[in-house]
Amino acid sequence: MTRTIKIFDTTLRDGEQSPGCSMNKEEKLEVATQLEKLGVDIIEAGFAISSKGDFESIEAIARKIKKPVICSLARAVPKDIDAAADAIAHAARRRIHTFIATSPIHMEHKLRMTPDQVLENAVAAVKRAKSRVEEVEFSCEDAGRSDRAFLARVFSEVIKAGATTINVPDTVGYLSPDEFGDLIRYLMNSVTGIDSVDVSVHCHDDLGLATANSLAGVLAGASQIECTINGIGERAGNTALEEVVMGIHTRNDLYNATTNISLKEIMKSSRMVQNITGSFVQPNKSIVGANAFAHESGIHQDGVLKAKRTYEIMDAETIGLSEAKLVLGKHSGRHAFSQKLKELGYELDGDDLNKAFDRFKLVADSKKEVSDKDLESLVSDEIYQGDEIFRLKYVQIVAGNTTRPIACVQLTVDGETIEGSQTGAGPVDAIFQTIDHIIQEKFNLLDFSIHSVTGGTDALGEVTVRIQDGGNIFTGRGSELDVLVASTKAYLHAINKMVANRNETRVKPTL
Ligand code: KIV
Ligand code: ZN
Repeated sequence: MTRTIKIFDTTLRDGEQSPGCSMNKEEKLEVATQLEKLGVDIIEAGFAISSKGDFESIEAIARKIKKPVICSLARAVPKDIDAAADAIAHAARRRIHTFIATSPIHMEHKLRMTPDQVLENAVAAVKRAKSRVEEVEFSCEDAGRSDRAFLARVFSEVIKAGATTINVPDTVGYLSPDEFGDLIRYLMNSVTGIDSVDVSVHCHDDLGLATANSLAGVLAGASQIECTINGIGERAGNTALEEVVMGIHTRNDLYNATTNISLKEIMKSSRMVQNITGSFVQPNKSIVGANAFAHESGIHQDGVLKAKRTYEIMDAETIGLSEAKLVLGKHSGRHAFSQKLKELGYELDGDDLNKAFDRFKLVADSKKEVSDKDLESLVSDEIYQGDEIFRLKYVQIVAGNTTRPIACVQLTVDGETIEGSQTGAGPVDAIFQTIDHIIQEKFNLLDFSIHSVTGGTDALGEVTVRIQDGGNIFTGRGSELDVLVASTKAYLHAINKMVANRNETRVKPTL
């Protein structure tokens, strides 16, 4: 019989936790709305205790999103579980995901607990969570390096205490597919009560094996996969949703399974997460990379023209990939514009729609063709600004081969105008020096990249910058026909995110 594998999406928790992928509340709501369209079964919306911002984002998602189960992560401690329960209280369907580490190295060095104490905490956490919600998921962190018999003991006890899903994370991406599949098989045969719960797999990609391990888990009996869009996540990332879902779909003969994912929404979801996080996938990334469906070599092209299946095991259309087409022009009205945005997965109204429409008009006036990609870029730029603590009023740059570049920048903050002018090694350096000077702080720029959204000399330039503040990295993006204006906006976007974050205290989930 064909099984339906549940897809547990943790883009907004494990994905968002990774360097440079942090998102603000509006961005998270937009992604959650798209995840609902994509058809994921569970959305892990965040880690409620970690910050005020995380709590509020989970709460907002819980109020808005109706179909998927909304889940919050919680360490196996009472205050985490209470915060998780409060954050998801308004969700139509809710789940608390609580965890504690079970590997010898984590128990001894991180938790400083004996195995018996860990077991006791796990059971108490599940009981507390169960007193607040019906669905409780329990994870043995670093299960991949834990003693198997101990894992079986902990899982048996938490099931008795009320857990409805048990999750097996390969937290550090250590196991091979054979070993991981074998571990799941062992647990299926050794855990008391396992038939009455979902068995979940959660793999990291440190050795490039997250997808293979997750699918090995499915073959061994797992009924839920935890994953993220584009595989974003801690270090090398998590299992990529698009890879496991298309793996199950394409090799249905092997897995004898299906998912509830609406495959046509895959590409849209991938692009949205790339645009929002500024974390772009490499061209040869499976399923969603720019070259994933491109055939360069003559032999391949010839084969595909004669019979598509010679070199294509999947159809691009299945994941919603269609040729970028000319969508709108300068005579297009607001209604057509908002309809097009809906098709692209963006639900805008009120002020957001007005702002995006004004931006579109400006671009359409200067650029002959406005494509889907242009629109996605503009919309992401316009609506995900978050708190604009420092707002750009104007930027002017003088540069050239015979002059040292100089920038003049005017910003508003709290209704006041601040301005300044500095020179720099290049025009971008001059702009950033000026902003640092005006704000009176030297920001630590880690990364600056620029790419054109489409072909052509009149293409929009999309700039991504990353700045570091202590242990946190903030990504800013800006999209403009003028790449220097885009650079200014991207830098300010990152600074605004950083300043907003400084008002919150965040704790690391693994503490
Ligand atoms: O990788 C991991 O162990 C986790 C747990 C919190 C499930 O993300
Ligand atoms: Zn993880």
